[in-house]
Amino acid sequence: MRTHLTHSPTEAVEFIKRGGIVAFPTETVYGLGANVFDEDSVRKIFEAKRRPTDNPLIAHIGALEQIELLSSDITQNARKLIDAFFPGPLTVVLKKTERVPLIATAGLDTVGIRMPRHQLAREFLKACGTPVVAPSANLSGRPSPTTWQAVFEDLNGRIDCILQGDATEIGLESTVVDCTRVSPVILRTGAISQADLLGVVPEVVERDADTLDVVRSPGIRHRHYSPKAKVVLVHESETFEPSSSAAFIGLNRPDRSFQLIKICNSLDDYAHSLFEFLRECDRNGIEYIFCETMHSEGIGTALMDRLQRAAER
Ligand code: TXA
Ligand code: MG
Repeated sequence: MRTHLTHSPTEAVEFIKRGGIVAFPTETVYGLGANVFDEDSVRKIFEAKRRPTDNPLIAHIGALEQIELLSSDITQNARKLIDAFFPGPLTVVLKKTERVPLIATAGLDTVGIRMPRHQLAREFLKACGTPVVAPSANLSGRPSPTTWQAVFEDLNGRIDCILQGDATEIGLESTVVDCTRVSPVILRTGAISQADLLGVVPEVVERDADTLDVVRSPGIRHRHYSPKAKVVLVHESETFEPSSSAAFIGLNRPDRSFQLIKICNSLDDYAHSLFEFLRECDRNGIEYIFCETMHSEGIGTALMDRLQRAAER
């Protein structure tokens, strides 16, 4: 398959209409989209990414009215979160309608719904005229792509089209909140923090590690965000083991030198830069990536979550 590259949302939409799969930018990471109601197209996403079929996809909308195509059971708390944070980096999980095929939701009776605020994403989704399911546009297990070049690196020849935009603004995936219960549960942290959510819905709770929640968000089980190199989390004051090909990312410049080094100027910059830095390390054959730990506050919580997963083996 030849992967078509374009800057034109209208050109990209033609591939969706013909049942193809298209990578597109959002404010979080690049997504790999297909028409949610076209089972064959949705299946192509799982194949192209080599994604386990028990990991559900998020349906992206370009207009608020499209929520009704996906769920007819919009809880009061979901409504409040939607009013406050759509369009933006939030995914709400609701009971799905019959029309949403089970392949998209990995057999669950719920569906994740998100409305990106990214300009090019909005133009693309509006022109699609249908909700578009989209996981992050990486090969399963690799860091999520924050540039179209990272999508190309993983998926060239495996997908129909890449809608080329800039590097994504946030760099970490959306906050996912299960709104099917009285107290909504945060399944994944992102740029919208727990404090932000609590400001709108005081009942929001954190996911606990019990198995029930693992079943509710099957994706959490899977290995994620792994570069080939070994990721080591370090605190500001820590000394480093000597190693031949090592890299460092963080806010504070360490005492020793590294083959690759990225000093970020803020927490937001760290979040924005992390996934691309992990990929750059792989391109350079780095063996150890030292990542400075941060306080779990604001986007720091999401950043620490991704760092911890990247460090798991
Ligand atoms: O920012 C994002 O969310 C990006 C962009 C492209 O929008 N998408 C993304 O998709 O990160 P993906 O597939 O890489 O991650 C989706 C996450 C997984 O952890 C999955 O388990 C969870 O959302 N999820 C999706 N549908 C769900 C559902 N019905 N119930 C529980 N969790 C769900
Ligand atoms: Mg992903």
